[in-house]
Amino acid sequence: MLQPAPGRTMYDATFGRGGHTRAFLKQGARVVALDVDPAAEVEAEKLTAEVGADRFRFHRVNFSDLASVAEKEGAADGLLLDLGISSPQVDQAERGFSFQQSGPLDMRMDPTRGTTAADLVNHLSEPELRNLLRDGGEDRDPGKIARAIVRARPLVTTADLATAVCRATRPARPGIKHPATRTFLALRRAVNREGEVLDRALAAVPKVLRAGGRMAVLTYHSAEDRVVKHWIRDHAEEEKREMGMAFGQPNPEHWVKALDESVPTEEEIAKNPRARSARLRGAERLGEVKS
Ligand SMILES: C[S@@+](CC[C@H](N)C(=O)[O-])C[C@H]1O[C@@H](n2cnc3c(N)ncnc32)[C@H](O)[C@@H]1O
Repeated sequence: MLQPAPGRTMYDATFGRGGHTRAFLKQGARVVALDVDPAAEVEAEKLTAEVGADRFRFHRVNFSDLASVAEKEGAADGLLLDLGISSPQVDQAERGFSFQQSGPLDMRMDPTRGTTAADLVNHLSEPELRNLLRDGGEDRDPGKIARAIVRARPLVTTADLATAVCRATRPARPGIKHPATRTFLALRRAVNREGEVLDRALAAVPKVLRAGGRMAVLTYHSAEDRVVKHWIRDHAEEEKREMGMAFGQPNPEHWVKALDESVPTEEEIAKNPRARSARLRGAERLGEVKS
């Protein structure tokens, strides 16, 4: 979808441990990468030493600041947003993302600043918690879970939270989605302000992508996928025009063409089970392409 190649600049807004970045570099592209996690920065420093700063640049910033990075580094031919958390983040119990292994209730992508999940579960009022769970993770019974959390205070570890959720819902059973999955998702989204941050990143796309450039977004849950789907639909003016739904002067800044969406194949899921909920959507910025 992103067509990395020599002479092209790819933005990897979610560097993680650099899997996608390395693939772009292998295809000969130059890469500008972002991530807020200090562990990602350590990995990025190793990569800079390997390939050199003319091929790879890293910024430890929130991807909601994409536009200011693009002002320094120049426009992108391709932009990737691989949303959510990386496997190493989930697997390190001390980061507090996992209900499988107990760790402190943290959940910050950038563990050096901001509110933790412990702050939220221990200090929000019961109605505030209920709303957070309903809106952020689409928990089926947010009221019951919020009540159980308030009763279980103080909650210190991810195991404390998982136990409180199981008490309010059902016990965890092997092979079945853990009952705390949506609760953990809602808290992680609130801790990292994921909704607001994605809106800001999408709003920056016209300032980052050059004409003819492509954006690809990987999402892992339906609320996030909906935001991306609607953004692409709202900006695919040409399609709207064809359907007689857009009038007046076209806004060249906002012209995108939707690209085919895709989900992982069974083979990909067998190789990497964490890909099972992934959905890939993309858009190409229309307009004159400068050679
Ligand atoms: C799914 S992982 C990306 C994995 C990466 N594509 C790879 O191949 O290793 C998402 C990454 O985005 C980072 N991240 C999440 N929200 C962010 C934000 N608002 N700004 C910058 N980085 C963010 C996380 O720290 C995490 O490393």
